[in-house]
Amino acid sequence: MIRFKITIGLITTGEQPMSKTLTRIIGATALAATLGFASLSTPSVAQDNPGNKTSVEAANEGKELYEQICQACHMPDAKGGAGAGTGVPALAGNAKLADKTFAVSTVWNGRGGMPRFAGMLTEAQVAAVLTYVRGHFNAYPDPITTAEATKIANGVPVRDCATCGH
Ligand code: HEC
Repeated sequence: MIRFKITIGLITTGEQPMSKTLTRIIGATALAATLGFASLSTPSVAQDNPGNKTSVEAANEGKELYEQICQACHMPDAKGGAGAGTGVPALAGNAKLADKTFAVSTVWNGRGGMPRFAGMLTEAQVAAVLTYVRGHFNAYPDPITTAEATKIANGVPVRDCATCGH
C-alpha cells in the first residue's frame, strides 16, 4: 500500500497557465519532498524481495504509482497534458514504450520536463509502473522485471529477457 498524497496535481493540472519552468521547479520540488516521505513510509515496496509478490500485487502497485505520481502530468487517461501541462507526451498508444531501455532510462534519468526518479523510486517501482503503463495503456503485455529495470538503470543493456532474472 502506498499511503501518501501527491500534491503536484494541483499545480500541474490547474487551469491557470504557469510558466513551464516554474511549473517544473515546483513540480519537481513537491515531488522530491513527497516521494522522499513515501520511501520512508512504505517499507512494503522495497526492492529487495520482489519475488515475494504475485503479479497481481505488482500490477496493483504499478497502477497506484501511476495514479499517485504520473497522472498528475500525463493525465489519468495517459493521453498527455493540456493547458499548463502542454508538452507532456501521451503514454497511451506510444510506440516508444515498446523499447524497455527507453522507458526505464527516461523514468530513471529524467529528460526535459520529465523528472528524474532515481533515488525517489526503487527499480522495482519503476518496473511496476512501466509494466502497468505498457500493459494498460499500450499493447505490450510482457512485464518489465525488477532485474531488467535494475540493469537498465545501471547502464547495462538488456539483451535477453529470459536470462535477466538469474
Ligand atoms: C512533473 C511532470 C511529470 C511527471 C510527474 C511524470 N512525467 Fe513523464 N514526462 C513528462 C514530460 C514533460 C515528458 C517529456 C520529456 C521530454 O522529452 O522533454 C515526459 C516523458 C515521459 C516518457 C517518454 C515519453 C516519450 O514519448 O518521449 C515516459 C515513458 C514517461 N514520461 C513516463 C512517466 C512515468 C512512468 C511517470 C510516473 C512515475 C512520469 N512519467 C511522471 C512529465 C512528467
